[in-house]
Amino acid sequence: MPRAPLVSPEEGGEDVALDRTLRPSTLSEYVGQEKIKRNVEIFLAAAKKRKEPLEHILLYGGPGLGKTTLAHIIAREVNANIRVTSGPAIEHGGDLAAILTNLEDGDVLFIDEIHRVRRIVEEMLYPAMEDYALDIILGKGPSARTMRLDLPKFTLIGATTKPNLLSAPLRDRFGVSYHLNYYTQEDIENIIQRSARILSLPLDTGSKKFIAHRARWTPRIANRLLKRVRDYAQVKGDGKITAPLAEDALTMLDIDSLGLDDTDRHILTLIIDKFNGGPVGLNTIAAAVGEDMDTVEDIYEPFLIQLGFLMRTPRGRTATPAGYQHMHRQAPHDLTSRLL
Ligand SMILES: Nc1ncnc2c1ncn2[C@@H]1O[C@H](COP(=O)(O)OP(=O)(O)OP(=O)(O)O)[C@@H](O)[C@H]1O
Ligand SMILES: [Mg+2]
Repeated sequence: MPRAPLVSPEEGGEDVALDRTLRPSTLSEYVGQEKIKRNVEIFLAAAKKRKEPLEHILLYGGPGLGKTTLAHIIAREVNANIRVTSGPAIEHGGDLAAILTNLEDGDVLFIDEIHRVRRIVEEMLYPAMEDYALDIILGKGPSARTMRLDLPKFTLIGATTKPNLLSAPLRDRFGVSYHLNYYTQEDIENIIQRSARILSLPLDTGSKKFIAHRARWTPRIANRLLKRVRDYAQVKGDGKITAPLAEDALTMLDIDSLGLDDTDRHILTLIIDKFNGGPVGLNTIAAAVGEDMDTVEDIYEPFLIQLGFLMRTPRGRTATPAGYQHMHRQAPHDLTSRLL
């Protein structure tokens, strides 16, 4: 069953239109990630100066942190057409061949979830990325031969939330890679401010800070919470967004003072109350909260770990003293020794 997507950094259908309106289209509108922006600027300028096609770029980082947005911005900054696909969408070698042969010099090919491309597709990507060539096998059996087809000088931008699932040969073929990390509180406030301006929402400083504090340092969640608070303000108030109103809206949605939702709290209380703080295996946690292991590992845990509420140890997941404190529980004396 799909979960309520409110604090999930993953894309939910309801957000598509909103995402488009709020998605920055230039590097200067892209809030935060200053180091990456500076690097991208230099990288783009250098390629322009050399009049060479851009090297292939790998963007990695958690869901909702701006990988797709950045890929579009890069293509736009170099006036390139962007062709968008994803790892699972390229089913056969023929699909990739069709995409590649339809590109033009300088085009950007964006492959989302690149860690999910099939082996056979991946192997076709190697010569395509390295030599702008496609090896096609003609015929079958002993008489089969390969033919090499020249491809336009395109730039591949790959995005992934799981860079460690990428094979080394694929990873090595990217000229640069950028790691998008969680945003600062200030960046998230700026993103909320920007979105409020675009949506013409009257938002005061208090409510901006209030929402930003609960957005899990993730732009997509910040925008989603803002939208929910807006809905609430339109129905319950006069449309004006204030901190008390934002508080009512988010309390109604069971989002706590740090942005934890029911499932986050369920995971923590489970480890604390049922397993005396842990360690507990990921599969046990996933089964108990009714989520699959990937969801727990990719969506919930990174945030709880970042908050310092949970640790991954070789023997399983353990709650930390800060996690106990947030859930208003007394930590056992030997807890710290279990975190090692
Ligand atoms: N740096 C930023 N400044 C302003 N808004 C941003 C920024 N990054 C992301 N956003 C907003 O967050 C939304 C989600 O970003 P995006 O779709 O690029 O994330 P993603 O990393 O591709 O996520 P996924 O892994 O789920 O594909 C965007 O539509 C945009 O509105
Ligand atoms: Mg994306």
